[in-house]
Amino acid sequence: MGQRPDRSLNVVMLGPPGAGKGTQSERFARTHGLPKIATGDILRDAVKAGTAMGRAAGAAMDAGELVSDDVMIGIVGDRLKRPDTKLGFVLDGFPRTVPQANALDAVMDGRGPLVVIDIVVPEEVLLRRLAARRICGSCGVNAPVDWTTSCGKCGGELVHRTDDSDGIVAERLRVYHRQTRPIVEFYGRRPTFRTIDGNLPPDVVTASMDAAIREASAVAGGVRL
Ligand code: AP5
Repeated sequence: MGQRPDRSLNVVMLGPPGAGKGTQSERFARTHGLPKIATGDILRDAVKAGTAMGRAAGAAMDAGELVSDDVMIGIVGDRLKRPDTKLGFVLDGFPRTVPQANALDAVMDGRGPLVVIDIVVPEEVLLRRLAARRICGSCGVNAPVDWTTSCGKCGGELVHRTDDSDGIVAERLRVYHRQTRPIVEFYGRRPTFRTIDGNLPPDVVTASMDAAIREASAVAGGVRL
């Protein structure tokens, strides 16, 4: 990465369940010193903490449905007020509906442009990935293939994510096509929108995402990476 200029780098990751949004946003955020804001992680933490919001969100998540726009817009709006987002952020899992996308535009008024990356992966590959996924039951991290029984970070037990069962995955994909896919059209004509092939080894996807963000950001006259 080059020198950090005063322009912010605001990245939105789109893609269906299992496309690799979490994997790639974690890598990009870490290597570029930006906060990763993953709405699925925020909700799972609230479920674990047993808050009222967590209990309501958990029911929607376990059914493969979306949590309400009001709740999500409130969560992300508050998070984007925190000072660590001043130089930018990587948003993973938000927006997921057109009202959420409109709300994000309103929050971003007067801040740098959004660079929007849509990760494309064939459905049969998504199904295979989600069926195979294990996460740590304690810290929630996605387990890479070389962690066979326990978490390499905290030693916790590796488990299936509760919403990765066959029936729930099918519903998450239906919900994606019905409610989230329209925001690809919403962003599609912006000069900072890019599509990348997510059906490649993770390091290759990382490199092409870096290149896409670099190029889109330059087009927008934004931060130089
Ligand atoms: P969320 O946690 O965001 O789930 P998701 O969008 O369904 O995404 P996933 O985490 O399943 O997949 P991913 O694209 O991040 O892929 P990953 O990198 O993990 O949301 C969960 C729920 O919360 C929603 O269903 C909803 O109820 C609620 N919610 C969240 N945000 C909301 C919002 N804004 N509005 C309303 N409700 C909201 O990778 C998946 C697997 O594939 C991993 O095992 C990984 O190791 C593997 N993998 C990744 N990349 C590759 C690759 N290139 N090659 C091979 N394997 C790969």
